[in-house]
Amino acid sequence: MISAEFGDRYSERIWENHTAEDFERDVLHGLRATQKSIPSKYLYDALGSVLFEAIVLLPEYDLPRRERLLLERHASTIVANLGPSPHLLELGSGSSEKTRMLIEAAIANYGSAVYTAIDISLEALRAAAAQLLERYPSLVVDAFAGDYFQVLAEVPRRPATLALFLGSNLGNYPGRRGHDLLRAIGGALAPHDFLLLGIDLRKDRAAMERAYNDPIGVTAAFSKNVLARVNRELGAEIEVGNFRHMSRFDEDTGSIESYLIAKRSATYPLGEGRGTVRFSEDERVHIESSHKFTRDEIRGLAGATGFDERMYLPDDDAGFALVLLEHREGC
Ligand code: TRP
Repeated sequence: MISAEFGDRYSERIWENHTAEDFERDVLHGLRATQKSIPSKYLYDALGSVLFEAIVLLPEYDLPRRERLLLERHASTIVANLGPSPHLLELGSGSSEKTRMLIEAAIANYGSAVYTAIDISLEALRAAAAQLLERYPSLVVDAFAGDYFQVLAEVPRRPATLALFLGSNLGNYPGRRGHDLLRAIGGALAPHDFLLLGIDLRKDRAAMERAYNDPIGVTAAFSKNVLARVNRELGAEIEVGNFRHMSRFDEDTGSIESYLIAKRSATYPLGEGRGTVRFSEDERVHIESSHKFTRDEIRGLAGATGFDERMYLPDDDAGFALVLLEHREGC
């Protein structure tokens, strides 16, 4: 057990609501709706998290590489805004791979740091924490497994906090939800704390679509895993092979919309006592929106949720940007 190995330097908390009943309720609700959908957070079970780690290695999925370059370039400048005993609070920490650059910069600057990692996958959290604790003897890690909104409402406040929301994960909270999430992050911050966003920017349609439709099918495996998960966890009998993955940029939403599409019409049992689900030919199940931002959208969103922009750091062809926001007084 990792807590036994690292003693006081590690603690974890698992949200009670983050349970099998939630999964069942949300999945059934989504599959019974006229426009079928499955909440994207359910893509990340243990297998889904591993498949996502494979996506970030795909040359077509260039978001992580762009972000890593920017972090290499700017980590020490970003961290220089914090005070002693800095606290990094990350949403969607996953493998915490890129976060290391900021953790290292914080430790180099201040001698020690506290890292709060929030992720839906407890397996990913534990694996990442064990590696970090091993590597950085002066680091303390608090791990929180649960839904962002649940965790943010209760996460302990610490001074000198830099919240991190990387990988353009904000784009997975389109419209009002992104607004609500930034507000919830603000709720966990004091005035003058910081929030660093990694944001994928609006660009050429072909370049955006390429990132979500790789030729070897890793992305397809990742998205189909959510149906396999429904089978595994609910005892449903959905024929996963009857679905194909499709992601396309939607001009109306400004987002890459990802779907699983039924190749043939079919009806599948949803497991003991839950009836069946029917798909018509070409029927879509929406699994994720990945919004691609313009600079004005980011400014507007930050301003409307109690933040001021302190640094806007795009990469060389303005395909991706790090955005450092400061939490406003009285918000
Ligand atoms: N959050 C990532 C994104 O929106 C996840 C992701 C990558 C994804 N490729 C995908 C989600 C394909 C669904 C389908 O960029």
